[in-house]
This record gives sequence, structure tokens and C-alpha cells, in this order.
Amino acid sequence: MFQISPSILATDFACLGDYMRRADMAGADMFHVDVMDGMFVPNISFGIPIMESVKKITHKPLDVHLMIVQPERYIREFARVGADIITVHYEACDDVNVAAALIHESGCKAGLAIKPGTETSVLEPYLEQFDMFLIMTVEPGFGGQKYMRKCTKKLTLLREMLDDYDLDTDIEVDGGITRENIGTVLDAGANVIVMGSSVFKGDIEDNMKYYRNFFDNYVPGKLPEERKKS
Ligand code: DX5
Ligand code: ZN
Repeated sequence: MFQISPSILATDFACLGDYMRRADMAGADMFHVDVMDGMFVPNISFGIPIMESVKKITHKPLDVHLMIVQPERYIREFARVGADIITVHYEACDDVNVAAALIHESGCKAGLAIKPGTETSVLEPYLEQFDMFLIMTVEPGFGGQKYMRKCTKKLTLLREMLDDYDLDTDIEVDGGITRENIGTVLDAGANVIVMGSSVFKGDIEDNMKYYRNFFDNYVPGKLPEERKKS
């Protein structure tokens, strides 16, 4: 099942509630919340207080993407203010296993993210520990960047790796997803699609309708044989 996770980073924060309610009504499956600390990435976005407001706007799950160093420090706090999924970066954790355990103990689903330059193979030891893997298809830090085509094969590789372990874990893709490349990322094995600019820039209802229709009418293109059967 494909899911859309609109990234609130691309909204106008002066009207955050309005933007989110429109995407919610138009069929957002969850909302992607990009937390940046100015250390792990060269940008600062928002943190706990905004999460508290966001939680009041929607009942949909909050998909929190922590782009902060030593995310272990803040897992409990984000869970407390209503995160449903907490994704940490492999590159930022002191101990990935500890992070996974903390997220689960806090009652959330756990995600593990890698940057474009990080090999997919680093995820292999953690396949059973996480409910979702996030493949970044831009350098984390900013919305509105161009999809890095070289990352498509990381999605394929990860889906094959999960298949090898008989796991049907969610693969989230984040960065530069547009009408032009949505088919490519679905074919490659992603099923949770983060979209900032593609949902919130322009007509939100129109954009959401386009992607919902795309999912409904999606016919796998270049899926490897074994994926076609499932
Ligand atoms: C980038 C963030 C993304 C970003 C996506 O660091 O992790 O979630 O908001 O925005 P678009 O879809 O505009 O690339
Ligand atoms: Zn993100």
C-alpha cells in the first residue's frame, strides 16, 4: 500500500493549520515533520513547540524525521508531544540499537534514515529492529531540491535486501519527489512517499488528487520479477 506523507517544511508557517487541514482533507496518510538542529544539517527548522501545535491540527500520524546529532537525547520528548513514527539518522546516532529500543519503548514506530552518500548495506544489521527505512534522495537540510537519480538504485537494493529476509518493511523516500519521478520510486520499491513542494506549492487539492490517482492506477513498470508476484 502506498502512502503520502506531506512535509510541512514546505508550508507557509503563518498559515500552517490551513495548509495542513487542506492536505488532510485531500487524503494525506500522515504528516512528515522535519526537525533540523543546524548541526547535523546546515539549517534549523523547528522543534517541540511546533510539534505540540501540529498535533492539535490533525489526527493523522506524525512522521517525525529527526535531522539532529545524537537523536537518542530527544526521542522521549518527541514521543511525549505526539510523534507516531520517529526516524533517526544512521549517521547521527551514537548507538543505532539504543535508538531503536528507545523509540519502541516510547510507544512509537521506529525509522532509520540514510543520507545519499551512505551505502545501503549499512542498514543490513538493523533490518529487524526498524519498522521503516528512509532513503534520502537529496542532501538533507532543505526542501525544494532536485531528486538525485543515483539514489534510485539504493531503493531497489534495499527492497531486495528486505525481500531476502522475508521482511515487508516500509521504505520511505524523501527529497525532490515530483510527478516526473514518482513512478520511478514506486517501481524501485518505495511505498511511503514524502512530498513537500509537490504537495504544498501550487494547488494542494489538485496535487493530492494527482498523486492519489497515480497510486490507484499504478501499474508496476520495471519491478523485478519476484516483486511483481507480491
Ligand atoms: C529535506 C527534508 C525533506 C523535505 C522534502 O531535508 O528531509 O523532507 O522537506 O521536501 P521536497 O519534497 O520539497 O524535496
Ligand atoms: Zn524529511
